[in-house]
Amino acid sequence: MLIVSCSHGNHLGHSIAKRLNASHSQLTVNKFPDDEILIKFNSNLKNQVVVLVQSFYKDISDCLIEVILASATAKEFGAKKIILVAPYFPYLRQDKRFHSGESVSQGIIAGLIDKYFDSVYVMDPHLHRKNSLNQIFKIKSTKLTANDLIADYIQKNIKNPILIGPDSESYKWARNVAEKIGAESRILTKKRYSSYHVEVRLNKKVDLRNRNVVIVDDIVSTGHTIIEASKLLRRLGAKNIYCICVHGIFVEDALRKFAKNKIKVISTNTIPNKAAKIDVSGMIADTLS
Ligand code: R5P
Repeated sequence: MLIVSCSHGNHLGHSIAKRLNASHSQLTVNKFPDDEILIKFNSNLKNQVVVLVQSFYKDISDCLIEVILASATAKEFGAKKIILVAPYFPYLRQDKRFHSGESVSQGIIAGLIDKYFDSVYVMDPHLHRKNSLNQIFKIKSTKLTANDLIADYIQKNIKNPILIGPDSESYKWARNVAEKIGAESRILTKKRYSSYHVEVRLNKKVDLRNRNVVIVDDIVSTGHTIIEASKLLRRLGAKNIYCICVHGIFVEDALRKFAKNKIKVISTNTIPNKAAKIDVSGMIADTLS
């Protein structure tokens, strides 16, 4: 097995290879002046099972083109099998046509991966209207979850927590983690008006006075969901507010907004960032072995 770190997979690729005692190689990625991407392998690929590690953040379209170029090239060089490890896989939230004329991006992007890869591994995919990755990808797909690692982090670092899921889909993380550590949990209801405007409500009363409240979600992007949830939780008396997410995309000034609102934020390292304190490389290596 040859682990190849793509431009947005280097933070995990080395560690995955080390844990598997497998060879590691870095994909060289260059851009021409007009922004076209050129990739270059630096290892012999003949008869190898090639694992491309790529997380999709910041320039996600470039990340996508890069893995397509890499997979097609690996095939040309005689790779036996090509696997994509996508600690964070994008485009899963657009799983239906919300407004007339829109693309249903989830299926289209998954279709590209089907075409170029033999199998795909995704950490905590955002599955809302679909129950499993098998309903999205035609190739063999494996879902990994960081829930055990998040549960372990909370147990070691936060006393007597109550876990909050900020919207109806988040029970898969918040309630599941709460059950693992025997903590109380509540799921809020969210209404999204736009990327920057959400409202959250609590359905069942809860007294949060002097409690350590931990909001658990899969993705934090602009941070608006968490900020709105935190305002509500503070009104209910929360003493300390933590936010733990799997994928810390943290666009714009999300981390600064969290600091301003005294929210302590922790994420896994599916996407490298300042809050990434939970390492998923061991879990990925175990699944690949
Ligand atoms: C969506 O349902 C996800 O689980 C997150 O709650 C959402 O993507 C967070 O987005 P933002 O941080 O921009 O509010």
